[in-house]
Amino acid sequence: ARVVVLVSGGGSNLAALLEATREPGYGAQVVAVGADRDSAGGLALGTEAGAATFVERLGDHADRAAWDAALTARVAEHDPDLVVSAGFLKLCGPRFLERFEGRYINTHNTLLPAFPGMNGPRDALEYGVKITGATLFFVDAGVDTGAILAQVAVPVQEDDDVETLTERIKVAERAQLVEEVGRLAREGWRLEGRTVRVGA
Ligand code: GRF
Repeated sequence: ARVVVLVSGGGSNLAALLEATREPGYGAQVVAVGADRDSAGGLALGTEAGAATFVERLGDHADRAAWDAALTARVAEHDPDLVVSAGFLKLCGPRFLERFEGRYINTHNTLLPAFPGMNGPRDALEYGVKITGATLFFVDAGVDTGAILAQVAVPVQEDDDVETLTERIKVAERAQLVEEVGRLAREGWRLEGRTVRVGA
């Protein structure tokens, strides 16, 4: 399967995916890495791994709709079977969502539907939950509301602060992403409403 990965940050999820794709039989290749900003460390990882890279900045466009159209076209050029948002800090627009419906997944660092949004681990810690985790889901028009593909639980420890909890979640999150992208690639999938059918 051809995978395009979208990043904004350090790209540790991308790094894990790139590592996994070196394994023969994994089933997925990262054909391109896209970012919404130049500083995204993930771009360098993509280049190193021989993937195409591109940057589409919101600020270079007249409005969000124009950016949406440009990003959609950029990603479509690589003809992906799957688009993975791995720490991509922008909400994709309606055009993008329509074009890649059922093929666009995002990883979030809590157990959804609890604690959506940018500060999930902090919110979970402040709330006082004892178990949180990571959720992989098919993106829809809402914020972290799409059909859930997989979840992994991560215990909160008594002495956790935001950093230690965030890091523990990221370890589980990366493993989940690698496992699920490979499974989708090897077995195929269908999205029926909120039901994800893998191997169907
Ligand atoms: C992930 O934990 C994701 O859930 C959150 O940002 C992180 C991305 O990290 N939204 P990285 O860029 O893959 O290292």
